[in-house]
Amino acid sequence: MHSLQQNLERSSAKKYSCQNISKLLAVSGLIFYLSFIFFLLHNQLSYLTQNILPPLLLNQPCPITSKYSKNSPTEINHLVFGLLGSAKAWKHRKSYIESWWRPNVTRGYLYLDTIPSPEFFPWPSSSPPLRISEDISKLLNETKHVAPIMARMVHGILEVFKQEHVGVRWFVMGDDDSIFFVENWVNVLGKYDHTKYFYIGGQSEDIWSNDNFSFDQGFGGAGFALSYPLAQALANNVEDCLRRYPHLTSADYITMTCIADLGVSHTAEKGIHQVDLSNDISGFLSSHPQVPLMSLHHFDVVKPIFPSKNRSESAMHLMKAADFDQSRILQQTICYDRKTNWSVSVSWGYSAHIYQKIIPRSILRKPLKTFWAWRKNSTKPHYMFNTRPESKDPCETPHIFYLDNVKQISPESEIVTSYVRDATQGPSSCSSGKKSADRINTIQVFSPATKHIETGRSECCDFANQLGRGKAKMKVNIRSCAADEIIA
Ligand SMILES: *[C@@H]1O[C@H](CO)[C@@H](O)[C@H](O)[C@H]1NC(C)=O
Ligand SMILES: *[C@@H]1O[C@H](CO)[C@@H](O)[C@H](O)[C@H]1NC(C)=O
Ligand SMILES: *[C@@H]1O[C@H](CO)[C@@H](O)[C@H](O)[C@H]1NC(C)=O
Ligand SMILES: *[C@@H]1O[C@H](CO)[C@@H](O)[C@H](O)[C@H]1NC(C)=O
Ligand SMILES: *[C@@H]1O[C@H](CO)[C@@H](O)[C@H](O)[C@H]1NC(C)=O
Ligand SMILES: *[C@@H]1O[C@H](CO)[C@@H](O)[C@H](O)[C@H]1NC(C)=O
Repeated sequence: MHSLQQNLERSSAKKYSCQNISKLLAVSGLIFYLSFIFFLLHNQLSYLTQNILPPLLLNQPCPITSKYSKNSPTEINHLVFGLLGSAKAWKHRKSYIESWWRPNVTRGYLYLDTIPSPEFFPWPSSSPPLRISEDISKLLNETKHVAPIMARMVHGILEVFKQEHVGVRWFVMGDDDSIFFVENWVNVLGKYDHTKYFYIGGQSEDIWSNDNFSFDQGFGGAGFALSYPLAQALANNVEDCLRRYPHLTSADYITMTCIADLGVSHTAEKGIHQVDLSNDISGFLSSHPQVPLMSLHHFDVVKPIFPSKNRSESAMHLMKAADFDQSRILQQTICYDRKTNWSVSVSWGYSAHIYQKIIPRSILRKPLKTFWAWRKNSTKPHYMFNTRPESKDPCETPHIFYLDNVKQISPESEIVTSYVRDATQGPSSCSSGKKSADRINTIQVFSPATKHIETGRSECCDFANQLGRGKAKMKVNIRSCAADEIIA
């Protein structure tokens, strides 16, 4: 508590002294300028204005928020993660975090409620550095907070800020049962001005959840980002805020409320997924919106995303592809073949679907409803997006393939992701003999080594079947679309 106060005081003291220096420089610069104006020739003066005055006269922003210039690109070391979990669940959630955490590269901490059992020590460097959440029982006693665990999670924002804030632009808070795509966080957050007040998170996929909590909150399991000034303001205010709202029962809702009291509203990003869905989310992951994938929460609740693997293997498997190219992970690319009348939809790094029918992109981009609603007896509509029912018509039912492996010969060469047929799916009766997609057992997708940074428009693709005797392979080539190319 004491050191916290000192820490915060120290940081604000730093800020004020820095602003004073700027003012001093500005004033002395002005005097400097006025005295020289009488003595200098025109050309010397212009030399002075161009080379000496600007740095003196500019009231430079304080460097406290970053050791880099404000306009330098956002990099991974500008982000600090505050991950909240419980010692009890750590055993099986460890593998989710370790699937995406990059030791000595990703900055941040894991906050557990208590010290985990001795079997987890020595603490491995493959896990985020461990911290134990502060004991806030005095505050809870004082406020009679109705949801102590939730208060602890909100208080975590202050704890992370205290722990580390020099050179930080963004604080990303999230849960231990989520997987994060850190490069995509860096790129997406890089679009925003970290010196302004930003609260960036994802809405729930479930209408009831947004309605029950708030359409204006970042659902925290999936992670939300606070720009430096907002995190600092929250750190200063979070204890008072917990005192103001002792009756609120959800950490995300309390956080949103505290932030709203600071006058800041929520900015939604569509790649942050709370995954308020249940059962099999493969349909959802196979038709991702055309934005970078940032996180997937509720990994413990949904079925393993690869049917032949368990949950931790699934997290690691998806990351295998993401490690080659995060910009394309789950990005949906659709192409058609007029000769066979087939449609192919690839969700990069995850799945590929073949339909033995031409189905327009406007339909294929809607997730196949393989999943169930988060809250079974909530009323329709359930989802924040349109869905497609699973069809009884075999020609509208996709042949499903899941990621098998990823290869790249050299950093400049194409990335080859291979997908193999889902063994749990029976043969289709859409057509028979040579024309049937039943014979295809592997789909190889070639994508450029360069990142796909354009959002809002998909890439294009072409495909060809290698029909030999017996089992056949399909090759899909992903490329940029031509300026006015029609994907149909
Ligand atoms: C991270 O850094 C520490 C200390 O520098 C080192 O001991 C450890 O091996 C590193 N871990 C990895 C995975 O590189
Ligand atoms: C909380 O309050 C109870 C009763 O008022 C008291 O017995 C207990 O010691 C207090 N705990 C803390 C941590 O202050
Ligand atoms: C959400 O719904 C539950 C149960 O229906 C209710 O008790 C709770 O107050 C609701 N929360 C909010 C923030 O509306
Ligand atoms: C998942 O599978 C791997 C490899 O077969 C195994 O080591 C691990 O214990 C499994 N995890 C769970 C939670 O079953
Ligand atoms: C593809 O569809 C078109 C339009 O429905 C049809 O005329 C054509 O015969 C079909 N081709 C094949 C190979 O099925
Ligand atoms: C939801 O459905 C279950 C069983 O179908 C029922 O027991 C429960 O009362 C229902 N809950 C609400 C809030 O309607």
